[in-house]
Parts: sequence; structure tokens; C-alpha cells
Amino acid sequence: MDLIEDLKWRYAVKKYSDKTVDQAKIDRILEATNLSASSAGMQPYRLFLVQDQEMKNKLGEGSFNGQIAEAPYLLVFAAYTSMGQQFVDNYIAHVAAEREIPVSALADFKASLEGYILNRSDSENFSWATKQAYIALGTALIAAAEQRVDATPMEGFDSEKFDELLGLRKKGLKSVVILSFGYRHESDAFAGLKKVRAHQEEMVTLV
Ligand SMILES: Cc1cc2nc3c(=O)[nH]c(=O)nc-3n(C[C@H](O)[C@H](O)[C@H](O)COP(=O)(O)O)c2cc1C
Repeated sequence: MDLIEDLKWRYAVKKYSDKTVDQAKIDRILEATNLSASSAGMQPYRLFLVQDQEMKNKLGEGSFNGQIAEAPYLLVFAAYTSMGQQFVDNYIAHVAAEREIPVSALADFKASLEGYILNRSDSENFSWATKQAYIALGTALIAAAEQRVDATPMEGFDSEKFDELLGLRKKGLKSVVILSFGYRHESDAFAGLKKVRAHQEEMVTLV
């Protein structure tokens, strides 16, 4: 597959068919999403994959995005709302365990993380965490296209309701963006629209 062809093939689907997606494809999209880059590798967000129809119905109630209830899968990107010493300690312990090195070998790295995480307000850290989640959203979109799985990124949802229904608050998380997966309905008029992007020379300035 060619990356440019994948990106030209995808579009933000408005209407889904009821065809489900092979689990192997979903697993690959999730694995790619988890491999996404993040600042200092901290991945200050978590993902929730919703398949339960009743839950999707409740989440989508009142939203202009019918895709929330209609698509067979809904991936919720939720960012941490507060990050303190424990957050840094857990991450450092994880890196040490994965690389099979002592925590003490990461002392300088730990001090630099503390320097910026602990000196920022919760709201600054949440804003940073949200940006990291959006990078993962981009990775998920590309991975879905590579699998020829349709997807729709969405900001049009009731974050408070999502947090409540998915029990995110007690996990210290807040939903920031969502992505549905499935297959486009043959009557989705958006499938045939020409993709509109800035002209390359307007987008990119060569210096
Ligand atoms: C962060 C983000 C939020 C979006 N929110 C919505 C949304 O709530 N509903 C929707 O139908 N499309 C949404 N879109 C899709 C965009 O409208 C779409 O990506 C854009 O028009 C470009 O078209 P294309 O993705 O089909 O090429 C969103 C896209 C992004 C990246």
C-alpha cells in the first residue's frame, strides 16, 4: 500500500453501514495508536474502545454526530487532568522495568520531567496532555486508512456526559476527542467529494 493513496482514500465518514470490522484490523489500529510519539514518551492519555451498542446510543444522544451511535466502534481519547509526583514516578519505574535498568540510572531524566511537569498548573498539564492525545488521533487515522477501515475524528460530543458514562473522572481523565471506526454506507454523499486541502506551496514555506 502507498501512504499517499491511503490518505487520499480516507475521508471523515458521515454515514456508516452496519458491517463490522475484523478484530485483527482493530488490534492493528490500536497497536499503531499506542506506538504514537508523545512528549518525553509519557503518553499522558488513555484510550477507551466502545463497542456496546447501548453505551454508544447513550453517548451519541443529542449529538449532531450520528456516527457515535451508528459506527460499530468508537475510540475515546481521554487526557489526564492532573499530573503530580506519582505520575512521574510511575513513568520512570515503567521505563526502568522495560529497559531493565535501575531507576537510579534515570535520575537526570526524572529530574528534567519533574522540572516541567511539577512546575506547571493542572490546566497547563491538561492542555499539554490533550495535544499528545491529538497526535495519537492522527496516528490512529493513518493506521485505519492503511487497513482500509473508515473512520471519523470528532470533537462534536458532550465531554461531560462521556466522562460520566465511561467513569473517566475517577480515573483522573477527561475525554478530549473521539474517533469512530467502521465502513462507509453506500449512500454517504461525502464519499464522492473532492478532497480539499491548501495548495502545497501555500502550506509549506521553503526557507
Ligand atoms: C479534531 C477534529 C475534529 C473533527 N470533528 C468532527 C465532527 O465533530 N464531526 C464530523 O463529522 N467531522 C469532524 N471532523 C472531520 C473534519 O471535518 C474533516 O476531517 C475535514 O473536513 C477534512 O475532510 P476529510 O477528513 O474528509 O478529508 C473533525 C476532524 C478533526 C481532525
